[in-house]
Amino acid sequence: MRSLILAVSVLTVLPAHAESPQALISTYAAAAAAAQPGFAPSPQRGRDFFMRRWNVTERMPNCAACHTERPAAAGSHVITSKAIKPLAPTANAERFTSTAKVEKWFRRNCTEVVGRECSAAEKADFLRFVMQEG
Ligand code: HEC
Repeated sequence: MRSLILAVSVLTVLPAHAESPQALISTYAAAAAAAQPGFAPSPQRGRDFFMRRWNVTERMPNCAACHTERPAAAGSHVITSKAIKPLAPTANAERFTSTAKVEKWFRRNCTEVVGRECSAAEKADFLRFVMQEG
């Protein structure tokens, strides 16, 4: 019982303090479930999202354009050619440990690639996909 109360209170404070990929995915999944009862993150939907060619801009058709088709691999920025470390936490332990950083990049990359901000459901699916790659 005590651990249940702890788990619930941890979830409530997460948006400002999430410090692990698992905590972040729980936060996004809970937000998605509020809008879509029964929502559960899906790695397959996450993969489809990551690979999907939105074609909003010619040079950044999808997430894989910079992050490659394998989240465990190092990427390269399509415009600046700067190296990008792997997205998968198994390959890069710094990934998804700062809510502020994750939100900043979701906002920027989703706006550029998808043409709008990503939903909580899309973020949860994306994280589930990226976390299982390694
Ligand atoms: C134009 C190149 C580019 C594209 C396309 C791109 N990203 Fe990124 N992404 C970056 C860069 C640069 C960073 C920040 C540098 C870093 O963290 O290595 C980053 C970082 C991130 C992070 C931060 C992860 C963390 O905790 O460190 C997330 C989440 C992310 N991207 C998601 C996405 C998603 C989702 C898409 C597709 C909708 C996408 N990116 C498409 C370049 C890109």
